[in-house]
Parts: sequence; structure tokens; C-alpha cells
Amino acid sequence: MAGNGATFQNDLREFITAVERRGELARVKNAHWDRELGAVTEVLYRQKVEKSPMLLFDDIPDYPQGWRCAYGMFGSPYRLSLVLGMEPALSDNRKEMLDHFRKHIRKGFKRIPPKMVKDGPVLENVLRGEQVDMLKFPVPIHHEDDGGRYIGTACGVVTRDPDTGRINVGTYRVQVVNGNTCASYISNGKQGRIHRDKYLKAGKPCPVVIIIGTDPVTYLAAGFTMPDSMPEYEWAGGLMDRPLELIEGETTGLPFPARSEIVMEGEISATETTLEGPFGEWHGYYAGDAQQEPLIRINRIYHRTHPILTCAASQKPPHSHLFERCFLRSAALLDALEGAGIPDVKGAWLHQAGGGRTFCVVSVKQRYFGHSTQVGLVASQVASVGYISRWIVVVDEDVDPTDIHDVIWAMGTRCDPKSRTTLLDHCWSSRLDTLVTDKTLPYNSRMVIDACRPYERLETFPKVCQSSPELAARVRAKYPELYR
Ligand SMILES: Cc1cc2nc3c(=O)[nH]c(=O)nc-3n(C[C@H](O)[C@H](O)[C@H](O)COP(=O)(O)O)c2cc1C
Repeated sequence: MAGNGATFQNDLREFITAVERRGELARVKNAHWDRELGAVTEVLYRQKVEKSPMLLFDDIPDYPQGWRCAYGMFGSPYRLSLVLGMEPALSDNRKEMLDHFRKHIRKGFKRIPPKMVKDGPVLENVLRGEQVDMLKFPVPIHHEDDGGRYIGTACGVVTRDPDTGRINVGTYRVQVVNGNTCASYISNGKQGRIHRDKYLKAGKPCPVVIIIGTDPVTYLAAGFTMPDSMPEYEWAGGLMDRPLELIEGETTGLPFPARSEIVMEGEISATETTLEGPFGEWHGYYAGDAQQEPLIRINRIYHRTHPILTCAASQKPPHSHLFERCFLRSAALLDALEGAGIPDVKGAWLHQAGGGRTFCVVSVKQRYFGHSTQVGLVASQVASVGYISRWIVVVDEDVDPTDIHDVIWAMGTRCDPKSRTTLLDHCWSSRLDTLVTDKTLPYNSRMVIDACRPYERLETFPKVCQSSPELAARVRAKYPELYR
């Protein structure tokens, strides 16, 4: 138990046990690594959305029993609350979840440096030299038109900044080329890319460690933008209120969690490249195509006995690993708006349908002329959500930003498109953006939609026709069966 009273899982296996106890785990046998694992996950998630269970695949054809793949780890509010050490009851209400998370990490949150240890479950099996073979694991082809098998999707790529020594852990996809070589796609501007390019520009190989199936908090941290001042391992330790136990890699000296399922260690070549991609992306397209990426040579593999390969197959949204991204980005957006000194921002939500990026809603209690415009323009650019953003909608405080029906209602009744929309051009995007045609000019445009009642009409705007909270509570209490 952490100092804040929360309980955290030490590793993926403890997490799976807790998820199963709650009835949110489905064990699936005999699904094929070649395109079936991703499809099973996709079809189930589209049917059940945030009520979809976590999937643990076993008896995968061509592989021994017990060599498993896991998908959709944090795809329900309950599972995410479990990772974050929150009261499960909070997961019924996103606003309360967000408020609790922000208070929890902001209030008294401190970095806790990791503890280096000599041993751990990940060292149960160590493969060196000729033994190194990534295809010992049931590495999936996640989507029908992917360019190959991806061992790294729900993973962390660990690098060290050659100038400062800062260790970074980022989730970047890793495609297997053959048993001991692979390639990773790391977008422009990401920390791992900056580290990698510093080595390669100096003509040196970049040491790298790829961690798979870590404790849930470390994996969550890897997929989330952390400032330079907050290294991911220290953030994970801080959240859990205890140091993460790390082991130093034999050939790179890079640290990896002692309770990981699988760890691969090697070097990113300064001279050799290989074709990487295409891969089905988070927005539901194969927009990035295939391109040359530096070759990674793996010289060590460490793994637990009966390892679990964690996977995150992006699909047309909503999909099984978006909920956590929507949640964390919404929290970061609220922090940024508060940090910019803007008062009375009441809520925010990055919607799954927008891949957690392209459709963002913020609610505000308007206090002055221009307040809602200010919220929308700042929200359109902050680092945590500005990348490949497209639609930013600002709503009044009586509109629930997480409820798409409420949001569309506000857009349809409170926004005059002619006078209350602002178009911004040459904003931060990526070659993954479906509307970027010249991949050397990855800009996009975006629209801020002010769906708030005009400030000058706040008092005179038509009254909303909806049962008052008191009347609604009364009828709920009178007919409990009806509303169960
Ligand atoms: C499941 C998942 C897969 C991701 N795949 C990639 C990827 O292939 N390449 C990439 O650049 N970013 C990818 N991201 C986004 C980065 O992990 C994210 O931007 C993270 O903040 C990067 O870490 P950094 O800020 O340390 O660079 C992925 C995120 C998740 C959660």
C-alpha cells in the first residue's frame, strides 16, 4: 500500500489477477498471431466499447502453451482506476476520476528515483548470441495490411540522452525484421527520437532497451509526454510511492524494470536502415506508409518463464487502448489551462472517436467577454493536446464535455458558425495526418468552435427544457426498478 493509501500492482501478473477478480478478464485460446489477435480485440471492443474486458490469449498456434499475448489492458474506467491506485467507485464518473487524478499527482507528488537491483523475474531466462530470437514469442501481425510482425506496441523504448544522461521511456512501435533485428518508428519531436538522432548524427550507434509487459504504471508513463524534469521511471515510483526496481542491461548499461515480462537490448545502427511499416494507426488509417528507419540489432533478450507479450493494436476508433490516452490527455489539458492562469475551466475531454487527439471539448463558466475564446485558443495549442488536433469545442459549464450528445446539442443550439468559429493554420501536425499531402510540410489547420452562449446574452438566452436535479432525483427514487 502506498503512502496515499492506494494499492498498486507490482507487475503485470498482479494486475491481471486483480482484473480477473473483478470479472474484467477474458481468456481466449487458439487465436492466430497472424491477424486474428488484433481482429478479435477490435470486434469485441467495437461491440462493448469501455465495457470490453482485457484479453489474454493463450494456446497461440505455432507457440507453446503459456506464451501469451495481452490486449486492452486499460480499456475500461475500472481498469484505469486500478492502475492509478484510485477507488474503483470513482470510475463511474469521469469528472471525479479526472479531479482525483489531478489532485493526487499535483498535491504532494514527488519523483522517487529507482533502486538498482541485481536480480528479478525478468532474468529467469537470458538469451545471448545465437539464442537471440524475437520470433520465439508469438509476435502478432496486428492488422490485415500491416507491413510485418510488431513485437513492440504496448512497450517502452528506453534511451539515454548522451548530453544530460536523462533516461527516457517512450512507447514507440517496433517491427521485427528477423530473429535479431528490428526497427522502430519514432515521430519527429519525441524524446526517444531526439536522443537517437544525437547519437546517429555523431556517427555513433544509439544504445537501446525495449521493455514489454512492465508493471502497468511504467507502461502508462511511457505513452505519456513527461517534461524533461520528470523522467518516466521516477514518475512511476512517485505515483506508487516506492522506488521502481531496475536492472542494468549487460551490453548497454540501460536500466529496465526487474519485473518486466520481456526485455530486449541492443543498438540502433548509425549506418544501416530497413523498411518499416505500414502499420494501422491510432486514427484508423494506414497514413504513414512504409519508410526507411534505422536498423536495431538486438544482442540480449531477457524474459520471464511463460512470458506475456503486451500488445496495443490501434484501430479505427474507438479502440481498446484509447480510453487511457483520452483520460491522461484530458487531465494534462486541464493542468495546462489552469497553469496558463485561465479561471473557471470546469472540465475537458478528448473523445475516443477523435483518436484522443482530433476532437477536444472544454467546458467553462464564463466570467468575462472573450473568456470562452481564450479557453479555445489556448486549448488548441498546449503541448499535451496540440499535436494533430483538429476540432476544439468550448461549451458552457452546464454541458458535460464527456457526453457527445450534450456537446452536439450545444454546437447545434449555441454556436453561430459565421461569427463563433476561428480557423487556425500552420499548426503542429505530422506525416501521420491523413490530410497532410506533402509529408515534408507536416502542418495542419484546426477550428475552434465556441459553442457557449454569447456572453452578452447569458441572462436572456432561452431557458433549457430539462427536469431539474430535484425532480429527476425524485422520480428516480420513486421508480428504482425503472432506472436500474
Ligand atoms: C500504444 C501506443 C503506441 C504508440 N506508438 C507510437 C509510435 O509508434 N511512434 C511514436 O512516435 N509515438 C507513439 N506513441 C506515442 C508516444 O508514446 C507518446 O507521444 C509518448 O509521450 C512519447 O514519449 P516521449 O514524450 O518520451 O517521447 C504511442 C503511444 C501509445 C500509448
